[in-house]
Amino acid sequence: MKDKEDRAGANGVTRRQALVTLGTLAISTVFGGFPGQAPAAESSAYTLPPLPYRENALEPVISANTISFHYGKHQRAYVDNLNKLVAQTEFANMPLEKIIAATAGKADKVAIFNNAAQAWNHTFYWRSMQPKGGGEPPVSLKQKIESSFGSVDACRKQLAEAAVTQFGSGWAWLVLDGGKLKVVKTPDADNPMVQNTKPLLTIDVWEHAYYLDYQNRRADYVNGVLDKLINWSFASENLGGS
Ligand SMILES: [Fe+2]
Repeated sequence: MKDKEDRAGANGVTRRQALVTLGTLAISTVFGGFPGQAPAAESSAYTLPPLPYRENALEPVISANTISFHYGKHQRAYVDNLNKLVAQTEFANMPLEKIIAATAGKADKVAIFNNAAQAWNHTFYWRSMQPKGGGEPPVSLKQKIESSFGSVDACRKQLAEAAVTQFGSGWAWLVLDGGKLKVVKTPDADNPMVQNTKPLLTIDVWEHAYYLDYQNRRADYVNGVLDKLINWSFASENLGGS
């Protein structure tokens, strides 16, 4: 326990910062059904939101070692870079969703977009998984999946296909698009909400998400996530009354 608390400290999230971040999450703008992340007012800096579970909670599908690097190094770097990039600009103190919308497709704002989107995407990704996930979606989501894909299995297959075939780094997403559910894939930091769709869940297919555990076997990682970790309840919450 002591070691775990020390590790959380090494991730730079103190108990006080975590509370500030969570408070900010609770009151900030909701975009796409997912609570936005704005800087803590007192520090005017973005903080790394706490993981929703322990680093070893997704084993054996995703190791604590992978989560330690992925969350503690990669996502932290996006947050730190964003803080440097937006300091004393029009984007300082802006919720991440607004930065993403304001910078998408703008050649002179690529670095800000990439780091803001990656900070948002990763927090969404952590919540798209849970220990003992997988299984059947909640009834209302299941009905929506069946009307859009024909069956949960067909939806699962499309998610796996998108995740495995995304060329290079990127993301596979379940989204709500005009009243129907769809599976899309995006390269690099791109997020489907800039295409006016509502993200419901995502799978990170950057190599840093799986290489320590699976090397080049991305399909094994993707199938493990879909079968054992995917958090259909989170997708259902994001769908809401849509
Ligand atoms: Fe990642």
